[in-house]
Amino acid sequence: MSFKVAVLASHTGSNLRALTAAAALPQAAFTVELVVSNNSASGALAHARELGIPWLHLSGRTHPDQEQLDLAMLAALTEHRIDLVVTAGFLRKIGPITLSGYAGRIVNIHPSLLPRHGGPGMHGLHVHESVLASGDTVSGASVHHVTANYDEGPVIASREVPVLSGDSVESLAARVLTAEHGLLAETVQALAVAHADR
Ligand code: GAR
Repeated sequence: MSFKVAVLASHTGSNLRALTAAAALPQAAFTVELVVSNNSASGALAHARELGIPWLHLSGRTHPDQEQLDLAMLAALTEHRIDLVVTAGFLRKIGPITLSGYAGRIVNIHPSLLPRHGGPGMHGLHVHESVLASGDTVSGASVHHVTANYDEGPVIASREVPVLSGDSVESLAARVLTAEHGLLAETVQALAVAHADR
């Protein structure tokens, strides 16, 4: 039985693409069964449409009431029998109802070596700005469990990336993003294999 993954993403969706590419490999132990975005114009939803993966736009526009939005998210995950939720550049907090319904089964990819450069406001280029300002010579990517507070759940896997002298925010972001793609695909595959072995 396949390990069913839902991906939640707000913008480009390059991590989603890395996961759908990994899921297409012969050894893949998981499938991407659902894509959810709060942004109806996101690259993530466009990719889901291209591949024929079920997708959903859930936002304050579709559900002005926070609790209704949270209930709709949990209902969608349950309806698609999702085993693992992956947030990849999803710029919304997961509501408490979904968090408790999927406790221990939601992971996030973050573009730094947590706990460094994590927490509220630390997303996208802000993370790399913070790394460059700190003088760190190593950055990277982390996959961690999602809890109620931003970027605080236990780290499951991480990958280091060097910070090079002369790096701009954009050059560092690009190097980290490439590492994210490999790390995320390998981590989801490992979680799927561990689930199958249970
Ligand atoms: C990725 O770099 C991801 O780590 C980051 O947003 C980007 C999404 O890119 N997430 C955060 O900063 C969360 N704090 P993508 O849409 O191309 O996958």
